[in-house]
Amino acid sequence: MKLPTKFAHLGRPDPKLGTAVNPDITRASTLLFEKAEDLYRQDIRSYGRHGSQVHDAVEDAFNTLENGAGTILTPSGLSACTLPILANVKAGDHILITDSIYGPTRYFCKGHLEKMGVETERYDPRIGGDISTLIRNNTSVIVSESPGSLTFEIQDLPAIVKAAKDKDVVTIVDNTWSAGLTYNPLNLGADISVHAATKYMGGHSDIMFGAVVCREKSMAEKIAKTRKYIGMATSPDDAYQILRGFRSLTTRFWHQERSAFELASWLSGQDFVAQVLHPALPDHPDHEIWKRDFTGGGCLFGVVLNPTSEANVLGLINGLKLYGIGFSYGGYESVAIHCDPQLNREHGPKLDGPLIRFGCGLEDANDLKHDIKQSADRVF
Ligand SMILES: Cc1ncc(COP(=O)(O)O)c(C=O)c1O
Repeated sequence: MKLPTKFAHLGRPDPKLGTAVNPDITRASTLLFEKAEDLYRQDIRSYGRHGSQVHDAVEDAFNTLENGAGTILTPSGLSACTLPILANVKAGDHILITDSIYGPTRYFCKGHLEKMGVETERYDPRIGGDISTLIRNNTSVIVSESPGSLTFEIQDLPAIVKAAKDKDVVTIVDNTWSAGLTYNPLNLGADISVHAATKYMGGHSDIMFGAVVCREKSMAEKIAKTRKYIGMATSPDDAYQILRGFRSLTTRFWHQERSAFELASWLSGQDFVAQVLHPALPDHPDHEIWKRDFTGGGCLFGVVLNPTSEANVLGLINGLKLYGIGFSYGGYESVAIHCDPQLNREHGPKLDGPLIRFGCGLEDANDLKHDIKQSADRVF
C-alpha cells in the first residue's frame, strides 16, 4: 500500500452505527478509574501527559512515513531537535553538529549543553566520511541536517553513518525539509530522524509540533524516558490537527515541491541572481549525492543575489505581493526572508552576494514567478 492510502486510513475508528470518520479528541489531565487497584498500573495511561488515541495515531503516521520503530511527539520542532540530543549525552561528552544546522538547535548545544559539561563542535556539512577524524573517545552524538538550513548543502549521510557506527556514536538527522517523503535517513542507517511537524504536517501555519522518529524501539524508549523526566507533553487538539494534516500531506507536498523546482530553475536564469541553492539543480555542488539519496526536493530553496545594496534586498522582499514576509515554511502560503542577519558559519560556504530564502505554498507557480518578477523589475 502506498503512503497516501495509508495516511487516508490510519487512526480511524471502526464504523459501527453512524460512527464519525475521524477519531474523537480526548481532552484530559485527570483520567478516572473505577477501582483504586488500577491507579498505579504501568500498562495503561493514567494521566493526560501520557497521550491519547489521537497521539497514538500520529505516532503511527510518523512511523509509517519514516519506517520507524517508535516515535516521540514534542510540542515544537525545536524540542524535537533538542530532546534526542539531551537523551543521548552526559557530562564530559563531545558532540558534533553540522555547521549548517538550524540556528536555535545550535544555540541549545552552545548555550545549554555547554553549561552541563557537554562540548559542541561544528563540522563542515561536506565532510562525508572524514568525520571519522573528528570523532573522539567521548563523542556521543552527531547531528546532521540535509539539506542544511539556509545554505542547502547535502550531506553524505551513508559515509557519516558508517563512521559513527564504527565508534558507537548516535546519529540524529533533522529531516524537516523533505517531509520524510523524499528522504529517509533511517533507511540510510541513521538512528533518529527529526521533524518540525509545524511545517508540512501542520500545513496551515497555525500549529507548533515536532516528532522524533527512531529506527530502533530501544532508542525510542530511551528518548521517551527523557521526555517523561522533563514533563514534555503535546495537547490532543494539536495532535489531532497534525493527524488531519497527514491526510492531505502527500498532495500538498508534491504541489509545493514541483513549484519550488520550477521557480528555482527559472530564477537560475535571471540577471539579478548569482546562484540558486536547490540540490535538484544540476549545478548544485552536491547534486550527485542528492540524486543518489533523495527521491525529490522540498518546498524551500535559497537564492544568492548578485552583489547589491541591503536596501535592494529589502526592497525586493517588501515588493512581493503574494509572498508573506515571515519565518518557517510548509504552510499553504508562500513566504520569503532575507537570511544574512542569521547566517553564522565556521565552515563556509562563501556566498557571492546576499541570500534570500523562498518557501513555496499552494499558489500557482506562474503567479509566484510573476510576483518575484514584478518586484525584481522595480528594484533592479
Ligand atoms: C530545519 C528546521 N528544524 C527545526 C525547526 C524548528 O521547528 P519549530 O519552529 O516547530 O520549533 C525549524 C523551524 O524553522 C527548521 O527549519
